[in-house]
Amino acid sequence: MDGNNGNNKIMNIFIANWKMNPTTEKEAVGLVADIQKEFQISDFKIQNFDIVFCVPFVFIKSIKETLANSNSEVFKLGAQNVFWEDAGTFTGEISPLMLKDLGCEYAIVGHSERKKMFGETIEDICKKINALLKVGIAPVVCVGEMEKSSKKLEGAEKQVNVILDSVPKTKISKLIFAYEPAWAISDGKKAASVLPSSDDVLSAKLLIQKCLSKKLSRNKIAEMPIIYGGSVNASNITKYAGEGKMDGALVGGASLKVKEFVKIVKSCNLSSRASA
Ligand code: PGA
Repeated sequence: MDGNNGNNKIMNIFIANWKMNPTTEKEAVGLVADIQKEFQISDFKIQNFDIVFCVPFVFIKSIKETLANSNSEVFKLGAQNVFWEDAGTFTGEISPLMLKDLGCEYAIVGHSERKKMFGETIEDICKKINALLKVGIAPVVCVGEMEKSSKKLEGAEKQVNVILDSVPKTKISKLIFAYEPAWAISDGKKAASVLPSSDDVLSAKLLIQKCLSKKLSRNKIAEMPIIYGGSVNASNITKYAGEGKMDGALVGGASLKVKEFVKIVKSCNLSSRASA
């Protein structure tokens, strides 16, 4: 969970964000089982990787059982959202304690779809992050511009600074930042028409690291994975992980396609990585 394998090397992390898919438990369990099988068939040694399934709440329990049968440490469980209170009169909400009890180690926070469709604010996001940290769940924090026309990275910088000011210094290293410009996110089937370049994502990583440098030492920052999300597929991951120096990806649409998702993880391992 701390993004470090003990050798001062960053852990690559792949977050499968299934969004509101699939529609049945049977399909959900089948998808995870097929992905695990595909890794086995391809005889791919997953090292220094975390592969996190952020599934709809209703599937968490059965996916947990599927993962428990696999005997593999690399597959982890995550949620796509959380509320910030532990329990109480909050109709329809799910608390960090409930996620913890189900075995979730990660939760996505501040996804642009939640900002756009459910009016999630930066204050809400900060409360969610801190509630997760309190119970030991790693927040996968999405930051990035909502509009293509807005000044590049200005939005992300503001968001990161507000978030970092809200989190106790001792817990900042638990955050996983995902640079996710809303305009680059796919419609679930096909990639967005315009995507950031590898230079763009590298600039985003450097900017997030610059914000972090006001709070943490260089060594600590170098151990924190920073990932990219937005229309990631098996063809573009190499440039984002290579020249873009991303430490993994937040994958939406492609995480529902068994072979494509496995290919993304595998090609990321092949690309040359060095910390930015
Ligand atoms: P996408 O989704 O890979 O389908 O663009 C990414 C995300 O929204 O997290």
